Amino acid sequence: MRKTILTGIKPTGQIHLGNYIGAIKPALELAKEPDYKAAYFVADYHGLTRVHDAEEFRQLSYGIAATWLALGLDPDKVIFYRQSDVPEIFELNWILSCFASKGLMNRAHAYKAIVDSNKRSNKDNDFGVNMGVFNYPILMAADILMFKTEVVPVGKDQIQHVEIARDIAESFNNNYGMTFLLPEYKIQEDTAVLPGLDGRKMSKSYNNTIPLFEEPKKLQKLINKIKTDSMPPEAPKDPDSSVLFMLYKEFASDIEVKQMKEQYINGIGWGVAKKELFHVMNRFIEGPREKYHELMSSPETIDKILKEGAEKARSISAPFLKEIKNKIGFYV
Ligand code: TRP
Repeated sequence: MRKTILTGIKPTGQIHLGNYIGAIKPALELAKEPDYKAAYFVADYHGLTRVHDAEEFRQLSYGIAATWLALGLDPDKVIFYRQSDVPEIFELNWILSCFASKGLMNRAHAYKAIVDSNKRSNKDNDFGVNMGVFNYPILMAADILMFKTEVVPVGKDQIQHVEIARDIAESFNNNYGMTFLLPEYKIQEDTAVLPGLDGRKMSKSYNNTIPLFEEPKKLQKLINKIKTDSMPPEAPKDPDSSVLFMLYKEFASDIEVKQMKEQYINGIGWGVAKKELFHVMNRFIEGPREKYHELMSSPETIDKILKEGAEKARSISAPFLKEIKNKIGFYV
């Protein structure tokens, strides 16, 4: 039996190169492994905890879907859907919330981080916290448990959420007998942490990102912004401590990397290094960028793909929800 592997991305911001290297690329590689049956989705209801502008929400949601597809997700091989198209998840969300202790939610790190920051600025503990933010881990547990997921590929910041899903599953199972599989998280240890424009990890919260599908001119501009030191062009440079080189490595071929390393050691001007970086990045992005724009200008194509995916998803979720409700004592 193939194991179910499942992950979602919430539409709260523009996808950047760090997301691609750190999350999307490894997830797409896992989906190709014969041992796995993959289910990837747009976590739009999770996005609603933060984005409350309808047009922005719509664009961001399509953006996530178009990104997966442009980067090569094959909807014939991966069950690919929009969370909001699978109503069983939301029924399960309520059921699970009746098995999730409030204390457990109080300890969830995203919520705790807001409370801590409110405390520091002398605000009410729960200032700016809507119940969606508070219940976020329960909806995520529903996403995961609904499909008998065994493996959840996520970033380190999501480990606790997967553990919470296990806790909730166990408390349901203890009460009604074995029902939910206990999911495990999978951290891609070997994937690179991509540095951002300032050298720190590329992340929305540091405001140092390079959007994945940036137009060539803007891409070159952003690359030009990457901080370098004031060494003269002919001075030898250490490739391993250079952000430009770290980025270059992710997009260049082995031979190119080797040659670039030598150029660093022999002395390369930062301007030249930036041009070369642009060249390899743009070469990689070109194809997917075109596909992305094509899809974004044809939302009905995206809708069709997602609807078909939701049908496949519901062929699993609908009978399973029935079984769950039956165990609880609902008339089904
Ligand atoms: N919370 C995840 C994130 O912010 C997104 C997400 C929602 C998710 N539901 C999920 C990830 C289920 C894995 C499985 O990245």
